[in-house]
Amino acid sequence: MDKMTGQASTWMDRWLDTGPHVSEYELTHPMSDAVIEEIDGRMIRVGERWLADFASCNYLGFDLDREVIEAVPGYLDAWGTHPSWSRLIGSPVLCEEIEAELTALLACPEALVLPTITHIHAAVIPLLAANGTIFVDRRAHKSIYDGCQVARGRGAAVRKFAFEDPDHLDAMLRAERDPKRLVCMDGVNSMTGNPPDLTAFAEVTERHGALLYVDDAHGFGVIGDRSAEESCPFGSSGNAIVRHFGLDYENIVLVGGFSKAYSSLLAFITGPKALKDLIKVAAPPYAYSGPPPVASLATALAGFAVNRRRGDALRAELYRLTERVLDAMAQLGVYTPNRSGMPIIEIPLRDSTHIDAVGRFLYDCGLFVTLARYPVVPRAEVGFRVQLTAVNTDAEVDLLIDALTELQAEGELQIVNEPELVIA
Ligand SMILES: Cc1ncc(COP(=O)(O)O)c(C=O)c1O
Repeated sequence: MDKMTGQASTWMDRWLDTGPHVSEYELTHPMSDAVIEEIDGRMIRVGERWLADFASCNYLGFDLDREVIEAVPGYLDAWGTHPSWSRLIGSPVLCEEIEAELTALLACPEALVLPTITHIHAAVIPLLAANGTIFVDRRAHKSIYDGCQVARGRGAAVRKFAFEDPDHLDAMLRAERDPKRLVCMDGVNSMTGNPPDLTAFAEVTERHGALLYVDDAHGFGVIGDRSAEESCPFGSSGNAIVRHFGLDYENIVLVGGFSKAYSSLLAFITGPKALKDLIKVAAPPYAYSGPPPVASLATALAGFAVNRRRGDALRAELYRLTERVLDAMAQLGVYTPNRSGMPIIEIPLRDSTHIDAVGRFLYDCGLFVTLARYPVVPRAEVGFRVQLTAVNTDAEVDLLIDALTELQAEGELQIVNEPELVIA
């Protein structure tokens, strides 16, 4: 904006004047768009300040695991830094090895790896939907919505069903005349930390002749097969939500990523060979995008090896640390939607207008968390999200619990069964 005339002066100013854009998102807060200058375990340095990192999705701590780190140079020596063919032209055999590992771990028919889940949604949802109807979970991840938007642009209809409500989906599918139906939803939700009742959704979807497409970005590596021998309620082997619910892949396409629990830039989709073949020729990320770098392929392969030997012990530690935080919150009477014990703990504020001050307080306490602001979340859910990893320390968790205790005493946090909230 030109200060003298008050007129929009550059093309950027004029563009920003045309509607709600980045100005709605606060980037001046120290916990937004931070530059991390150094790390030491789960401690991070921003400027002069060391902070305990509770914003990391590296749930198993593979980013700091010596065995994973030391595996990478050997792959770089063998393959260079980056293959650079699109996958349709050719892929290092490492991709095939990862797909074989995934097929065995997930007990799925076939798996295909691409750089990110976002790529997969944008490319595959439109393919699966064709000109049919997509039923999408109202609170599905933004990247699923973006895939649905591409599909809509190619002739699909998009309809929303209520969050965590298989009965609503049932009613919508019953009323729908379009025989081509695709249901898209999250596995473990990235804000609440809760998985949906996948058994119920799978049953409804199958009964109505629809295909269920599930993004389990946060479940893969954390939840898995249930058994009497499991080291914690997350189950064993981290083979994601379908196996965690004891389901098969007959009518389910599972999408997952390595960028959270496996600390790598890579993602996968499961499906029958016919789907894999279709994606190879029709999905732009396979045909045209650059492939994942060799370090990503190497960390994924090393991660599988560590997961086989130490994964369940890491998940037990992750569960223990998360339980410490959830138990402390329960004792304080502080509300969180988390009812799963997953290491994703959303903590809404009583007054959404206090978000900056609460964020500043946490930062001054030496804590780094994800701020959840309006309009990214509805006003009633404005607050912050805490994520734990297996390599957070007890001392870091103590620091977090102390800060939550102080915020609760100041009346900043929502209390369990609180009748009235101040929602600005
Ligand atoms: C549920 C969900 N899906 C997809 C993504 C994006 O994953 P990727 O980085 O592989 O594109 C995220 C990341 O925040 C997520 O939480």
